[in-house]
Amino acid sequence: MNVADIADKVIEAPIVTSFTKLGYLARRKLDGWTPIDRYDLTGKVILVTGATSGLGKCAAAQFGRLGASVIVVGRSADRNQDVVDELVELTGNDGFGQVACDTGDLDQVRALAAQVLADHARLDVLVHNAGALSAERHEAPDGTEQTVASQVVGPFLLTSLLLDRLAESAPGRVITMSSGGMYAAGLTVSKLEMPPGEYDGTDQYARAKRAQVTLNEMWAERYPDRGVSFQAMHPGWADTPGVEAALPGFRKVMGPLLRDAEQGADTLVWLAADDEPLTRNGSFWLDRRIRSIHKLPTTSRSDTPERRAQLWDWVVERSGAELG
Ligand SMILES: NC(=O)c1ccc[n+]([C@@H]2O[C@H](COP(=O)([O-])OP(=O)(O)OC[C@H]3O[C@@H](n4cnc5c(N)ncnc54)[C@H](OP(=O)(O)O)[C@@H]3O)[C@@H](O)[C@H]2O)c1
Repeated sequence: MNVADIADKVIEAPIVTSFTKLGYLARRKLDGWTPIDRYDLTGKVILVTGATSGLGKCAAAQFGRLGASVIVVGRSADRNQDVVDELVELTGNDGFGQVACDTGDLDQVRALAAQVLADHARLDVLVHNAGALSAERHEAPDGTEQTVASQVVGPFLLTSLLLDRLAESAPGRVITMSSGGMYAAGLTVSKLEMPPGEYDGTDQYARAKRAQVTLNEMWAERYPDRGVSFQAMHPGWADTPGVEAALPGFRKVMGPLLRDAEQGADTLVWLAADDEPLTRNGSFWLDRRIRSIHKLPTTSRSDTPERRAQLWDWVVERSGAELG
């Protein structure tokens, strides 16, 4: 273990240092990170869900600055187009396009995939970033609880529909933006969707984010030879419109300790651009380092091979994904 490894462990233990900008700033220095602007993504095509706000918008801007063509996905075509216009202006790259899609609506996900396949001969990176913590329970058109629909089932279907195009563009990458909130949740299939009456937004969000991280590992295990790598990450705690809307009290307490969007999105951009993640398929990252997916014995115990297999079968069935 070198000095940076030891220091990283010390920072990682208390969540407040690890997840805030303190963790980001210390690790950037200790590990001597390559600055993002040294990477070149010219010729790459990158799809980012949730690219109209916060971390996704910030990452989309970085991808554009580095020369990539970027497909902006959000629920409203008008909002998407405003962001595309803004990012073209900001980056000087006119390779931004947009498709409107609610990732919880499976018909819209199928239409998004069809559009991407028709418009783009290659797809280098698929970023599943769209997400929200909702205080109230909603359902997607197929009746699936909306957090699970938009962050687990829809993204799973989208990956399945775009996998061949990612493989043709090898090395393809699928990156999932999870959350440190998932450390609080065990792996559950029977209780993945919280029913009305039991619904708790924070808990529901944590369960969905746990499922994302598990499925990321399972994609890597089940499709190891397609030239596509699967990575999940969490951004720490970053000050975004999403946090302001969902957790105003938390945002007030954490104040200047919160990361800015660029700091929260750094590992996402790095996962899309650097060669190292390609050799570490199926990993979970924070601040450019692989992290354990469990911090608690209770969640670790819930994570059995049987339950994993059950989750995979459940999401295949619910999404209607046809896997080769
Ligand atoms: N900020 C943090 O500290 C933090 C911490 C842990 C994890 N995360 C994760 O990071 C991701 C981005 O969060 P953020 O903080 O940047 O939030 P944000 O500012 O609210 O941005 C969320 C983005 O997701 C899109 N979106 C939400 N639901 C969608 C749906 N059903 N279909 C398509 N797009 C949808 C929104 O687009 P439209 O409204 O235009 O549709 C928006 O672009 C989320 O997955 C979140 O869980 C954030």
